[in-house]
Parts: sequence; C-alpha cells; structure tokens
Amino acid sequence: MVCGVLHQRKNPIIVENRMKIIAIANQKGGVGKTTTAINLSAGLAQRQQRVLLIDLDPQANATSGVGHEADGYDDDTIYHPLLGECGLAEKIVPSRIENLSLIPSGMDLAGVEIELARMDDHLVRLRKLLADYKQHNQFDFCILDTPPSLGVLMTSALAAADEILIPLQCEWFGLEGLAKIVQVIEQIRETGANPQITLEGILMTMYDGRTNLSRQVVEEVANYFPAQLYKTVIPRSIRIGEAPSHGKTIFEHDPSGNASIAYGNAADEFLTRHNIFAPPSGAVSTNTTSV
Ligand SMILES: Nc1ncnc2c1ncn2[C@@H]1O[C@H](COP(=O)(O)OP(=O)(O)OP(=O)(O)O)[C@@H](O)[C@H]1O
Ligand SMILES: [Mg+2]
Repeated sequence: MVCGVLHQRKNPIIVENRMKIIAIANQKGGVGKTTTAINLSAGLAQRQQRVLLIDLDPQANATSGVGHEADGYDDDTIYHPLLGECGLAEKIVPSRIENLSLIPSGMDLAGVEIELARMDDHLVRLRKLLADYKQHNQFDFCILDTPPSLGVLMTSALAAADEILIPLQCEWFGLEGLAKIVQVIEQIRETGANPQITLEGILMTMYDGRTNLSRQVVEEVANYFPAQLYKTVIPRSIRIGEAPSHGKTIFEHDPSGNASIAYGNAADEFLTRHNIFAPPSGAVSTNTTSV
C-alpha cells in the first residue's frame, strides 16, 4: 500500500496515504487505453493495492470489461457528481475483483460533455471532486479510463491526474499521436489547470515481435523518452481481444498466457516506479516480456 507505519515503535510515524490519480490517456482511438486501464487496475489489485477504476468513456468498455452489469437505470456514473448533484462516494461500486472498485460509465456520460462545457470551471470540476475524495483514504490508486478525443471528459481527466500513462500502439501512426498528447500535457501544465502533472510512462501495446515495424517504433520512443518508456511491452494477443466479451480481465481469461504475464509485469513495473514492492496474491509468472 502507498502508506504505512514507517517504524514499529511507541509513537509510530504514519505516512499520509494519498490516492494517486493516474489517467490512461491517448486521444488516438483503439490503442489499448481501456485494455490497459482494466488490466493494470486488476494487476495492481492482485498486488494488494486498493484501486478505484473510473470509467470516463461513454462507450463504457472498462465498465463491461470488468464484468459490471448496469442496473438498467444507467445513472450510476460520475455524471451527477460532476454536475455537483451528489458526492463521488455514492457512485462507487465494488467489482467482483478483490481490492478493485469502480465508478461505471453509461450513455448519460455522453451528455455531460455539453452540460459541463457550459460551466466556467468545467476543466477543474473532476479535479476538485477527486482532491476532496483523497481525504477519505479509501484507495491507493485511482485509474481513469479516458475517451478517444480531446473533449471535456478527456481534458478534465488530464487536469485531475497526478500522472499520465500513455498506451501506445506499435504503429508509425502511434508516434504522431504521441507527439500530440505530449503537447496537450504541456498545455495543461502551462495553462495552470494542472501544473504538477507528470508523464508517468509510455506503455507499448499490440507489439508483434515478428515485424521490424514494432521493434522500430519501440526504438524510436526509447530515443525520445528513455525514462518514461516501460520495459514491459504488451504483445498483440487474440486472448486480449476475447476477454472483454466475457467481462473478464486477462488474468481471469487466460492466466498463464503471454498477455497476462505482460500485464502482470507492467503492474510490477508500475509499482517499482512508485517505490512500492508488493507481492502478487495470485499466481503470476516471473517471466519477462520486454524488449
Ligand atoms: N495487446 C492487444 N492485442 C490484441 N488486441 C488488443 C490488444 N490490446 C487491445 N486490443 C484490442 O484492440 C481494441 C482496442 O483496444 P481498447 O478498447 O483497449 O483501446 P482504446 O484505446 O481504449 O479504444 P478507444 O479509443 O475506442 O477507447 C479492442 O478490441 C481490444 O480488445
Ligand atoms: Mg477505450
């Protein structure tokens, strides 16, 4: 866990536990944002981290991907908290994965873009909600799955996040997208909307080791972002494509497959980057999937 008692003594020093907010973002569509949000969240939860996954995409793929079934009313999303009509805590539901909770998405989130855009403080409403919620000490990490556009929801996520994790498809077009999102992060910092925001990492997805292209794209990213590039790469895997249709994470759908090992390694790498060393509770192989 993020916090803990530093020394076992009479008056232990308690380190403040602050939920770290990570936006999984890339304005380019279909690059593996949601797949990463689901499986990184599940991987961290397996490693004893208390995780809140917030689905900010009206497509609601992260919601169905962790097996959450909407109750039919479709209003158990972050819509009402964003408009100031109720608190965030009311919308948090447990998932069937231990240590993983969720704020689901649904179609009503599509409308929030328009309603929020009318409000002067629209960019910082999510930021304020999450900053207030940090005081509750309920979670170690909050993972935001974002939509593939530079609309209000996506920019709100960037304004609210402590860190950005960019999933990047191993394609040349992916590099163009990377330049754009890095520029947007810079703008968010410069406008003062979120001066502290940092680029936590870049995670290469859909890596195909049989092609030179995948290797070249990874090398190119390594040249420009050596510190941010994850050593772990996520391989292209049919099993990853199948898992959401069963409402399962890759760890449940294909626990010993390459993609499962890779997302487990990505979770380990994420924790190491955050100076946390937590053993997995499930059987996760120690094989490495890196280039
Ligand atoms: N490593 C992978 N190997 C094979 N297929 C993958 C992999 N990662 C993701 N996919 C598939 O690619 C598609 C897009 O992935 P995903 O939904 O995670 O991307 P996204 O960036 O969230 O998309 P959007 O921009 O629409 O939100 C999905 O069908 C998913 O199952
Ligand atoms: Mg998505």
